Amino acid sequence: MEVTRDRAWETLTRYTQSEALRRHALAVEASVGFYAQRYDEDEELWRATALLHDFDYEIHPTLDKHPQDGAPILREEGWPEEVIEAVLSHAEHLELPRDTQLKKVLFACDELSGFVHACGLVRPTGVDGLEPKSVKKKLKQPSFAAGVHRDEVYAGAELLGVELDDHIQTVTDAMKPIAGELGLRTEANAA
Ligand SMILES: [Fe+2]
Ligand SMILES: [Fe+2]
Repeated sequence: MEVTRDRAWETLTRYTQSEALRRHALAVEASVGFYAQRYDEDEELWRATALLHDFDYEIHPTLDKHPQDGAPILREEGWPEEVIEAVLSHAEHLELPRDTQLKKVLFACDELSGFVHACGLVRPTGVDGLEPKSVKKKLKQPSFAAGVHRDEVYAGAELLGVELDDHIQTVTDAMKPIAGELGLRTEANAA
């Protein structure tokens, strides 16, 4: 099969009705796509992987099923092992090696995209003007976006070998062009 982000979106939205989950997929896709460009990698395949990483979460919302029980579905659909292996590797509980750049980037962008998204949702201008400094401050407030695993945010930047500030800035910038799709306000339409 030809791996495209549109095809991945089609698979994702067939299994996922939740707007929040679809937005999470889009936020991670934007960040991973940004890194694919920076590292001159296969952007279409990286974007597809990011869109698919939680595709089965709605039907498998527990860690005894997600994402491992999603893998056979992807195989059935004809997704290449490179994509499926990367999808599986994002899950901490499976303890799989993150031995490719795609696996590293996916892991590094997953929790942080969710966190930056949460930061943007409580600001009148969304992620416009959002500084790494204030993201880091919020990371230290356990009650804010409590579901985001801080240790995975820090471990992701380290695994990728990037400064946390740069990583936050990259993820923030990646989300700006799709702010509307992510339900974020912008400087242009701030109330
Ligand atoms: Fe997941
Ligand atoms: Fe995720």
